[in-house]
Amino acid sequence: MTRADSHVHTLEVVEVIKETDAAVSLVFEIPDAIVPRFRYHPGQFLTIEVPSERTGSVARCYSLSSSPHLDDDAIVTVKRTPGGYASNWLCDNAVVGMRLRTLTPSGVFVPKSLDADLLLLAAGSGITPVMSIAKSALIAGSGTVLLIYANDDASAVIFGAELEDIAVEFPDRFTVVHWLVGERGLPTTPALRDLLLPYPRYDAFLCGPAPFMTVCTAALRAIGMPESHIHHERFQSLTGDPFAAIELPCADDESDTAAATVTLGGRTLELPWPRTRTLLDVLLANGYDAPFSCRAGECSACACTVRTGEVRMLRNETLVDADLALGLTLACQSIPVSDRVHIDFDQ
Ligand SMILES: Cc1cc2nc3c(=O)[nH]c(=O)nc-3n(C[C@H](O)[C@H](O)[C@H](O)COP(=O)(O)OP(=O)(O)OC[C@H]3O[C@@H](n4cnc5c(N)ncnc54)[C@H](O)[C@@H]3O)c2cc1C
Ligand code: FES
Repeated sequence: MTRADSHVHTLEVVEVIKETDAAVSLVFEIPDAIVPRFRYHPGQFLTIEVPSERTGSVARCYSLSSSPHLDDDAIVTVKRTPGGYASNWLCDNAVVGMRLRTLTPSGVFVPKSLDADLLLLAAGSGITPVMSIAKSALIAGSGTVLLIYANDDASAVIFGAELEDIAVEFPDRFTVVHWLVGERGLPTTPALRDLLLPYPRYDAFLCGPAPFMTVCTAALRAIGMPESHIHHERFQSLTGDPFAAIELPCADDESDTAAATVTLGGRTLELPWPRTRTLLDVLLANGYDAPFSCRAGECSACACTVRTGEVRMLRNETLVDADLALGLTLACQSIPVSDRVHIDFDQ
């Protein structure tokens, strides 16, 4: 059994903000000693260990709604999932002073440039990563930001007052369109296409329930937006426990290897990559601090770019066509196909 837990930290909740009847924000203080490890990009998420009397704990990902360009603390916003366990536990039990184990920030739902013009499409709790992206782009970037935000009704809108304030502060660069289902019905592809027609050259970031993402994606394709400009964040619960000690499987035949060049944390590593082992397992077994959370192809924490060569993913529940077109792969699911592969985690 191998323990790779340098990315596990305990953070204290210093404030709990009731955003709506069904959503709370948890404000975590980041101790000075681990500030470098908690540097994050807008759009990234934390994985939180939520206590459970039944199973000991469950792990869930929550996007950071804070902006690294504005906020000292790290803030996640959790909305109750009807019948869900962890989201309701956090909404009911999180209090100031509570200490929770989390993994360091990760994820690839991140604009390449904050200077780009951005089209942000969110529904319900999908506002969280999008909020971080919007604030960051307005404060640290130079482009314009259009946010379409869908909710059942006005009482479900998270960050409503903050969004109004931002619109006042950045009148020429920020527009928010609230799509209230109670008034306009569910968003449809034709209606969104008409709304989005002027913006085919923007970069789009989508986050919300699957049917919402489907109609948004169809609308963006209909206005001619290139696939590489359409980014999705899928909210789903992890099935495994990334906080548990890790058992690294032995390769069946360690002599059958590809040659891997891996750019990680500013270093370039050269190492043999046994053909039956995933890249993440190889890196962890060699003592390298590669990013990961679920190790099951469900979260994108381990996403990296294939610069040269070819890999195959065993499972992929998170990367979409646009990510694959950019050369992204999941280290926790990738095995080598070609004899030489160059992988870059520092994209
Ligand atoms: C990258 C990413 C970012 C995300 N960001 C956000 C965000 O910003 N905000 C947000 O609200 N959500 C976010 N999510 C979704 C979030 O991770 C959860 O999927 C969501 O909160 C629902 O989790 P849940 O446990 O409440 O519901 P479910 O996962 O539906 O809960 C049911 C599950 O819990 C188990 N369970 C039930 N009772 C217990 C018990 N007593 N003990 C142990 N297990 C039990 C059941 O077996 C079942 O598997 C994100 C997801 C991802 C992947
Ligand atoms: S660690 Fe979650 S997809 Fe690889």
